[in-house]
Amino acid sequence: MGRKFFVGGNWKCNGTTEDVKKIVSTLNAGELPSTDIVEVVVSPPFVFLSQVKSELRPEIQVAAQNCWVKKGGAFTGEVSAEMLANLGVPWVILGHSERRALLNETNEFVGDKVAYALSQGLKVIACVGETLEQREAGTTMEVVAAQTKAIADKISSWDNVVLAYEPVWAIGTGKVASPAQAQEVHAGLRKWFEEKISAEVAAKTRIIYGGSVSGSNCRELAGQTDVDGFLVGGASLKPEFIDIIKAAE
Ligand code: G3H
Repeated sequence: MGRKFFVGGNWKCNGTTEDVKKIVSTLNAGELPSTDIVEVVVSPPFVFLSQVKSELRPEIQVAAQNCWVKKGGAFTGEVSAEMLANLGVPWVILGHSERRALLNETNEFVGDKVAYALSQGLKVIACVGETLEQREAGTTMEVVAAQTKAIADKISSWDNVVLAYEPVWAIGTGKVASPAQAQEVHAGLRKWFEEKISAEVAAKTRIIYGGSVSGSNCRELAGQTDVDGFLVGGASLKPEFIDIIKAAE
């Protein structure tokens, strides 16, 4: 069962309308592999979603970087899943480690968010990953399995979920996981799916890697059996994002 390569670009809290225009025109001009072999999604800040969606070539989809945990209402400053669906935004990133750490999002809260977003017809890039302290304590698999279980406990299908393994120590640090380190955790997560969910979910669910992915390290990572793509931060704001997409070839 083939898993289509997936490349997400998380722009995080960056950019002006002028920057966005530049990034979009670079992406529009780039020579990309066919959509038969790679699915590409970029995730601008909320305020630029409509601009990006209307100006970007149709082969590249958009994602929000977050959404509220339930139906909208009196939740100042939040954006609901139904608003994103109404805007025609197909994807949302949930559970990013920056939100887990800085905004105290717990495993259970992330699970609830994933379930609600899916119920509104969104597709989800769900993030998991260990801190350096947890890796050094030898608890990496335990941590990512618990984060994944908290999502699994709340959802009935993984069809519209891509799981992003993002070791916190590799995010924005330039310290990319080695291909062997990434493969080990991805294989562990796939085994977890097989044992706890089903062989079908294990075979079909895309597990992508994030953390200091660049144009120079992407091909070796992409060559790992269980690495089905990337969630790219810093490099997704630069022309090298095109090279990263080409790692699908
Ligand atoms: O969501 C993306 C990750 O946080 C990776 O960010 O590529 O800047 O390390 P980075």
